[in-house]
Amino acid sequence: MSTSFLVNGRPVRTDEEADTPLLWVLRDEIGLKGTKFGCGIGMCGACTVHVGGRPTRSCITPISAMEGAEVTTIEGLDPAGQHPVQQAWRELQVPQCGYCQSGQIMQAAVLLEDFPNPTDADIDAVMTGNLCRCMTYSRIRDAIKAAAR
Ligand code: FES
Repeated sequence: MSTSFLVNGRPVRTDEEADTPLLWVLRDEIGLKGTKFGCGIGMCGACTVHVGGRPTRSCITPISAMEGAEVTTIEGLDPAGQHPVQQAWRELQVPQCGYCQSGQIMQAAVLLEDFPNPTDADIDAVMTGNLCRCMTYSRIRDAIKAAAR
């Protein structure tokens, strides 16, 4: 089966089996390694990308659902790395080990589109599914507020 879609604005075609996770295609076939594998069951958020502008867990998204979709990964959020969320992440030195951070940033970018001036409750509600074993949560919250300014 063939699936055609856009990744970071570039046309992609894959012949992977219908139930192959989008994450595998992004990492192993296209070579975009910024999106991470954490749990593989949609529970940690490390694999978060945007599909049609919405945050999506790529580890549980079958490639067959991507026909005609527009996918954005951390590499395409801002090719120069200057998205306001990325700038705030650097300024506040959010990452510790860094593993979950691309997923955190992708989730936060959509949060700010939905809530341009987010409250703590907004941030907690939207970011609760993105886990960080280094417990960088307070810096994540501060960086989201900084990016909103
Ligand atoms: Fe996809 Fe954890 S790896 S949610």
